[in-house]
Amino acid sequence: MTEHIQFSPEKDALVLLDQRYLPTREEWFVCKTVADICEALVVMVVRGAPAIGVTAAYGCYLAAREVQASGVADWKGALSAKLEQVASARPTAVNLRWAVRLMQGEWNKRPEFSLDDLCAFWLQKAKTVHAEDIATCMAIGAAGADLIDDGDTVLTHCNAGALATAGYGTALAPIRAAVAQGKKVRVIADETRPFLQGARLTAYELHKDGIPVTVACDNACALLMQRGLVQKVIVGADRIAANGDAANKIGTFGVALIAKEFGVPFYVAAPVSTIDPETADGSLIPIEDRTPREVTHVGQTQITPDGVPVYNFAFDVTPNRLIRGIITERGVLAAPYTEAIAKLFK
Ligand code: MRU
Repeated sequence: MTEHIQFSPEKDALVLLDQRYLPTREEWFVCKTVADICEALVVMVVRGAPAIGVTAAYGCYLAAREVQASGVADWKGALSAKLEQVASARPTAVNLRWAVRLMQGEWNKRPEFSLDDLCAFWLQKAKTVHAEDIATCMAIGAAGADLIDDGDTVLTHCNAGALATAGYGTALAPIRAAVAQGKKVRVIADETRPFLQGARLTAYELHKDGIPVTVACDNACALLMQRGLVQKVIVGADRIAANGDAANKIGTFGVALIAKEFGVPFYVAAPVSTIDPETADGSLIPIEDRTPREVTHVGQTQITPDGVPVYNFAFDVTPNRLIRGIITERGVLAAPYTEAIAKLFK
């Protein structure tokens, strides 16, 4: 797959493949300012927890460049305000705030830095965050490949693949690694209403890479499992609480409940940066409430009557008891998750 997150030194800008138009059009969105970065995050030009973390890291650099260009006297205050704008563009995926905190922490360690120093340093640091995410995806793949048997069909919800990371994905990483081992693996991509990350994005990237993928309506999950058509479920996560409760795209909790009913193992794959040890359990994870238009319209076509309210919660939380394992770059965590996660952060 073409790298969908690219830093352009010529443009001094972050260039993103615009995921709103996939799979039918490959258009690029250029971010030169904090406003561009925030727009890209909010309207989901770029989405997926690790990918928005990497975008936020470059966003910190662009924030510093913007403050530098403005020549404002209190550059530290102006910069901190811009960093907060980036960190709060979307509330659920902790990777966004994680990346901004990481960049801010590096700055705090170097109080002597001028703004010029900081710009140069942060660009390098953002590139490191970018490169590390690629390596993390590979490690998640290696950790999870053995969970997949030759001949398995794996159901996934939303897109936790290359388009959601800088590398080759989180939920799709063990699948890709199993395929690289020579196993025959098929994928069922839930369409993932309302933004259709599964139908548009997971199907796009797997099809492009030659991994057999079938799209199913979200509400087909129970029938597919009842018919024995699914051997494993692997999904990504936007935030995993300290007790292992995992927030992911709306509909994931329902898939986990159905998987439990039919005895299908349900795994979550995510980098350690998605685990938030400061959030004790899933009830404390903020759930993004997005614009009604994503539900009332499909593309330009209105599908609900004028004046009827809709719900558009973007995420739900799967309780830890439904999760067979959490696949990270540091191995597969098993219950009890509170202990396993505490050990990771020791
Ligand atoms: O709203 P989105 O598309 O950003 O939601 C993405 C998901 O829910 C993904 O499953 C999650 O971020 C993991 S991405 C590796």
